[in-house]
Amino acid sequence: MLKLGVNIDHVSTLRQARYATMLDSPNAEPDIVAAALAARTGGADSITMHVRGDRRHVQEEDVSRVKKACDLPINFEIASTAEMLEIALRLAPDFVCLVPENRQEITTEGGLDVTGQHDRVSDACQRLQQAGIEVSLFVDPVDEQIEAAARLGADAVELHTGAYADAVTDEAADREFDVLTAAAKTTRQAGLVLHMGHGLTYRNVRRVAAIEGVCEFNIGHSIVARAVLVGLERAVREMKTLVSNP
Ligand code: PXP
Repeated sequence: MLKLGVNIDHVSTLRQARYATMLDSPNAEPDIVAAALAARTGGADSITMHVRGDRRHVQEEDVSRVKKACDLPINFEIASTAEMLEIALRLAPDFVCLVPENRQEITTEGGLDVTGQHDRVSDACQRLQQAGIEVSLFVDPVDEQIEAAARLGADAVELHTGAYADAVTDEAADREFDVLTAAAKTTRQAGLVLHMGHGLTYRNVRRVAAIEGVCEFNIGHSIVARAVLVGLERAVREMKTLVSNP
């Protein structure tokens, strides 16, 4: 059965909007551990968190708190920098997904250039695997990158589904779907475990879930966005009850 990794970065984004410098305030919410446990109750198979160089959402402490409180595997997304490798080795998540990172971007824009950064990615991959951590590489659905990931010994690739998700016409979505299907085949032939993620929503996920060989999706923004809407009515009702019954 296909696995769902729930990316809870944007739970932290909401907290950081107000509590960036006061993480241990009793009012710092939403609580990332509560979010991980709710995702678990909802059927998440793993929890994904990305500590970015600029710490804009998830903090190291979030990862260790979730790891302690929630028994789901942690998929830790990081850039392959010395700082992040050191953090990953210390936190010892079950999986690491190596991603490119650019300070100016709003979200991860493209896949990792595995061919162009071979030595750095290969070194990161080996150090993590020696510590017992499985490694996936977040790559564009391009044969050259997938084959390079297999050559340097990654356990899995996560195919970037952004171009498919962002397609504005049906024709463009069909074209990007075909690209993903072909890349999935290359991934299977290369003997790598196949993950997909980025930009997937309640509207576009079913089609890609039918692609042969896909084992796992990592989905964040759409789930957190929907959680805000499906939970808002109850949240208002609870507050209304409190203010109406002083
Ligand atoms: N997979 C990777 C490697 C990512 O970098 C991200 C975004 O942090 C996701 C999946 C989740 O993307 P989204 O939030 O658009 O579902």
